Amino acid sequence: MKALAYEKAHTLDAFAITLADVAEPRPRDGDLLVEIRAIGINPGEAAIRRTRSAEPGGRVILGWEFAGVVAAVGPAVTGFAVGDRVMGTGDVTRDGSWAERVAVDHRVVARIPDGLAFTDAASLPIGVLTAWESLFRDQDALPAGVGRVLVLGGAGGVGSMATQLLKTTTPAFVISTASRPESRKWATAMGADLVVDHRGDLAGQLRAAGIDHVDLVFSTAGTSGHLGAIVEVLRPFGHLAAIDLTGSFDLEAFTAKSLSLHSEMVFSKLVAGGDVASQGRILARAVDDVVAGRLRPIVTTTLEGLTAETMKAAHVLAESGRTIGKTVIQVAA
Ligand SMILES: NC(=O)c1ccc[n+]([C@@H]2O[C@H](COP(=O)([O-])OP(=O)(O)OC[C@H]3O[C@@H](n4cnc5c(N)ncnc54)[C@H](OP(=O)(O)O)[C@@H]3O)[C@@H](O)[C@H]2O)c1
Repeated sequence: MKALAYEKAHTLDAFAITLADVAEPRPRDGDLLVEIRAIGINPGEAAIRRTRSAEPGGRVILGWEFAGVVAAVGPAVTGFAVGDRVMGTGDVTRDGSWAERVAVDHRVVARIPDGLAFTDAASLPIGVLTAWESLFRDQDALPAGVGRVLVLGGAGGVGSMATQLLKTTTPAFVISTASRPESRKWATAMGADLVVDHRGDLAGQLRAAGIDHVDLVFSTAGTSGHLGAIVEVLRPFGHLAAIDLTGSFDLEAFTAKSLSLHSEMVFSKLVAGGDVASQGRILARAVDDVVAGRLRPIVTTTLEGLTAETMKAAHVLAESGRTIGKTVIQVAA
């Protein structure tokens, strides 16, 4: 089959992902073999391209957000049949979905209805799961006492879904951040009750709106740079949930307010253990919410075709840090 693949980690300037002939995926007993129709693009995949090299003689196939059609079902699979339209993520330690076909654990997949376009479906899985697990942990609910939430990066792929999930599933007051007129407009469209600028004084903007503190900050971008402001706006015993934690952090300032830090890695249930099937359930619920009009897909840019050129264009957007909603590549109609 054809797949977009590379051998050595590389920068955007030296973009080296090419369309190659590779061996067919080898599904495990609990896998679906899925014919890919559309893929969602994530900055995390660009980060892996910059840092992960293949074993000698091997190649890396990235991509863990897709929509497609089930072509084969493993003997341990339940709930899916050949021909089902599906969307899902995958396992970051296995080959991804920037290919004609992917083998994927059925527990991180959900069926999609005929009326939901593959491109719209491919904009959902990573944002929904990352936002859900960051906000609701493994309890499917906000921490007790959380009524006011600040979403840093409210127009991005994950922030867009976080704002929507908060507004559709909780009574929380949601403040989102965005720094440009077009991202502010999008954050408002996602349902934010208030939008403030993450390039400005966050605490000052909240005070100006009559808000002296928030109970939870969900930080999707620039967390290390925002740490001082995050501590300032959180109430004692408040919560920071963050998805871009890399390197070392000085959390000393957290102790004065007895703050909690919640980390999240969307693949941790598959990689480290946990209720993997909960991810399929969360995705299925999101599909129901889309069908009922409570949740909207977030695709804003659609690129056509599984080619090195479209993938490079997608990586340029992913590395810009200015994505609004989600970039999707349509692989096949
Ligand atoms: N841990 C996990 O499991 C997991 C899962 C998914 C993603 N991630 C990571 O989470 C991060 C966000 O992912 P994403 O897909 O939402 O990214 P994205 O769509 O590329 O986010 C773009 C948005 O970030 C905002 N932004 C840029 N710089 C910012 C800053 N300093 N402070 C606040 N907002 C800023 C921009 O808003 P303006 O244009 O308005 O400035 C833009 O709308 C990435 O680092 C990604 O790798 C982690």
